[in-house]
Amino acid sequence: TTPQLLAGKRVVITAGPTVEAIDPVRYLSNHSSGKMGFALARACVAAGADVVLIAGGKVALPTPLNVTRIDVLSAEDMLIAAQQCVEGTHSEFQLVFEDEHDHSHEHDHSHNHSHEHHHGDCGCGDDDVSDHDHNHNDNNDSLQSYDDNQFVKADIFIATAAVADYRTEEAAPQKIKKTQDAMTLSLVKNPDILATISLAHPELFVVGFAAETQDVERYARGKLVAKDLDMIACNDVSRADIGFASDDNAMQVFFSERYERDTVTLEKTSKDKIAEQLASIIGQVIGQ
Ligand code: C5P
Repeated sequence: TTPQLLAGKRVVITAGPTVEAIDPVRYLSNHSSGKMGFALARACVAAGADVVLIAGGKVALPTPLNVTRIDVLSAEDMLIAAQQCVEGTHSEFQLVFEDEHDHSHEHDHSHNHSHEHHHGDCGCGDDDVSDHDHNHNDNNDSLQSYDDNQFVKADIFIATAAVADYRTEEAAPQKIKKTQDAMTLSLVKNPDILATISLAHPELFVVGFAAETQDVERYARGKLVAKDLDMIACNDVSRADIGFASDDNAMQVFFSERYERDTVTLEKTSKDKIAEQLASIIGQVIGQ
């Protein structure tokens, strides 16, 4: 059996591509499959963690057992979901919280609810708590005294998502007609989810991923510092046999200088095996 190096740890993982609407029927996206993030979710559960998986775009993979999955589309929605999950304020946790305090029925730990977050309808922020009270005030007294101290924060944040660097400035409300011979899409930069979360939560153990075609170490170390990461896993996407849609991967793992750890090379193997190794490295580092 797997050593329980992440026992009791709450892990939030982003995975897959993001989908940025152009109009109601078209979008900008990328070829990310979500496989690495889903494999990591499985590996973290196997190592004893409580895992929330935020899947972007339209990831077509089954939800791993005992993982709470939240489906989002765009980068902006992924950021909101990630912030709420890391802070423990996402409505998904209020459901869990309620289950855990309701002893009248068994909590089976396989709450694979799918929450679609539509553009501009994030259901986030202050509304969540009052909404919750609204919907459940008939059956849960403990929620009346719901305050900040009861939100369970995450311990580890892992960003595997291939977030679109740019989104359309504004999605057209109606389908765009092909009346013009040429057209221009105006794009704006998306938020950096990993950097935003990491810089806002210095106590969180944060893991980034990077795909580089050259100078892997230099770029990786640059991101480690710029995004204030604890650890970064890089694959060399100039290799045709690994990465993206592939089932295999090979990685180099770099650590923040505060851990005084040498670079680790993970040889080419299945994403499942890579994920197990990464989960165990994370467990070792946080236990150090
Ligand atoms: O800067 P770059 O895109 O190469 O960084 C990759 C890492 O940052 C990955 O962990 C990716 O999930 C994360 N990222 C993010 N939000 C973005 C861009 C990248 O979370 N907008």
